[in-house]
Amino acid sequence: MIFGLVLAGGIGRRMGSEIPKQYLKVGGKAIISYTVEQFARNRQLEKVIVLVPEDWVDYTEDLMKEDLREFIDRIDVTEGGEMRNDTIMNGIAYLEKSYSIDEETIVVTHDAVRPFVTQKIIDENIEALKTFTACDTVIPATDTIVESMDNEFISSIPDRSKLYQGQTPQSFRAETFKKLYNSLSDEDKIILTDAAKVFVIKGEKVALVEGASGNIKVTYPSDLELADSLLAGGKNK
Ligand code: CTP
Repeated sequence: MIFGLVLAGGIGRRMGSEIPKQYLKVGGKAIISYTVEQFARNRQLEKVIVLVPEDWVDYTEDLMKEDLREFIDRIDVTEGGEMRNDTIMNGIAYLEKSYSIDEETIVVTHDAVRPFVTQKIIDENIEALKTFTACDTVIPATDTIVESMDNEFISSIPDRSKLYQGQTPQSFRAETFKKLYNSLSDEDKIILTDAAKVFVIKGEKVALVEGASGNIKVTYPSDLELADSLLAGGKNK
């Protein structure tokens, strides 16, 4: 079975808003509602599990009923975790408890604050998992990337044709992620905030799936304006 995990357990410190940024509105609707709708629409997914901060579970359930009534039987809301990977682990634990999982179970994990994910991207993540254990959605780097080890001088300028910007979804076999994550030291768990990196560091292959420039992450206040203009341009199709 394939499940969508919408990761909304963060508080949006960099946004600096009074409420977690996933609940801010663009085009009259909460960002998280657009994201969950894209997942709920995808019939390859058995269910969509929305993982939110502990205090926001009831609020999110009400919001889903209001904004996504026609999909409500496809959506479960539960608590996320302290760090992003803890949120994924909570999602997997929830699946084990509520649906039971086996080694074939796939999770398509996605940032709640990337509301412009497309059906194509979700489908291509699922397709990649027919062959690989894990995949990551990326776009080719457009700017030249400069590396500085001391944050003062350039140490290298890697070949841009080999560089990509990571987006989400990131998809993988749930049991493999759980096993790899549990084998990390506490120190590594703090450093490894990216799920794909958990696979890479453990020597597992992670396939690349083509993302889209419109699949932006809302991080700073300026991203809200960008999201508004993308919405006006009909990006969320
Ligand atoms: N996320 C999560 N659980 C956490 C932390 C983050 O599910 N413990 C989610 C966020 O809700 C967001 C996504 O991961 O949808 C991407 O993370 P980011 O943009 O860093 O979100 P925040 O952690 O909320 O933002 P900030 O780093 O500015 O505090």
